[in-house]
Amino acid sequence: MKIKTFGKTGKKVFVLGLGTYGHGEAYGGIGKENSINVMKKVVEKFSDEAYVLIDTAPRYGLGEVEEWIGELFEKSNEKVLITTKGGRHIDEGRVNEKDFSSNFLREDLNNSLKRLKTNKIFLYQLHNPNINIIKEGKVFDLLESFKEEGKIDWYGISINVAEEGIEAINYCEKNNLSGLTSIQIIYNALQRENYKELFKLAKNNNIAIIAREPILRGFLTNKYSKKDDFEKYSAAVKKQIKLFGKNQLFFKLKELKDLLEKYNISSMTEFAIKFSILDENITVSIPGINREEYIYQDLSAVNLEIDEELLEDLSKISDLKK
Ligand SMILES: NC(=O)c1ccc[n+]([C@@H]2O[C@H](COP(=O)([O-])OP(=O)(O)OC[C@H]3O[C@@H](n4cnc5c(N)ncnc54)[C@H](OP(=O)(O)O)[C@@H]3O)[C@@H](O)[C@H]2O)c1
Repeated sequence: MKIKTFGKTGKKVFVLGLGTYGHGEAYGGIGKENSINVMKKVVEKFSDEAYVLIDTAPRYGLGEVEEWIGELFEKSNEKVLITTKGGRHIDEGRVNEKDFSSNFLREDLNNSLKRLKTNKIFLYQLHNPNINIIKEGKVFDLLESFKEEGKIDWYGISINVAEEGIEAINYCEKNNLSGLTSIQIIYNALQRENYKELFKLAKNNNIAIIAREPILRGFLTNKYSKKDDFEKYSAAVKKQIKLFGKNQLFFKLKELKDLLEKYNISSMTEFAIKFSILDENITVSIPGINREEYIYQDLSAVNLEIDEELLEDLSKISDLKK
């Protein structure tokens, strides 16, 4: 299915959206002109029958990517649903510091509204709060008040592990907070286990699942080799090496490569994109498309046929472990 309903919002979205992390400095940055060109083209190509979800955050390009989105969609936004995030500082000396206090979140939201040149944000996501903040729940009461004030239509949460999503849904359900509409998870061919309970709960509560990092931050392209000098690569690429260790990462990539060869799948990237939307519980996958040619590659991946046996074999390859 290429068109999905985005949780409680009832909006129809194309199953591929756009992640803009790599439009900022994370993978080296692509600059305003390229970013705007990619965003325009994505919307043109993905919006035939549904909205296109564009995911951003103040953190991406330290506010610049939000500004570019604001500039591009200020006058014509009828085909896009914009989502940004809150809870991380971007000012010098504090970049990426998490802060989910009421004062900071309110200020952060107001700054995003300004940069996005809008009065209301479709979906406002918490940018990876830790589990204690989620369990305490005050932050969801605050998001509900942003909704009542008309500053956001809906809210969601970006998480690192399934338990965080489960706690978020449970808190909102128990406290009759109806604005929670999405959970953003890490989801790709080598990071897809342990979501069963979260998926079930999300489905029962009509909550959308956003799959992020579908290409494992560029690694599911086969373009890196274990012998590469990762010091010369961007922060986002180096982070993956640090997180999983070279040996494990390249061992798993080799296992996946061999498997795809067995089933005559020539493009690991296309497989990765298709994999990220195969599960019926995934509402939208947001590849970090940062070059125009990726748009066509990802669109073609949507139509890739995947053998059930391949998926069974893939399930025997365990997830990457931190
Ligand atoms: N905490 C959070 O909430 C959080 C964290 C991470 C990501 N996200 C969101 O999730 C989105 C996706 O994650 P991501 O961008 O980190 O990683 P990704 O989508 O797994 O990988 C993106 C990278 O893969 C490479 N690539 C090669 N072929 C591609 C193709 N056909 N389509 C797209 N990319 C291709 C590009 O790198 P090259 O430039 O090297 O070609 C690109 O930067 C982000 O952009 C962001 O919106 C959220």
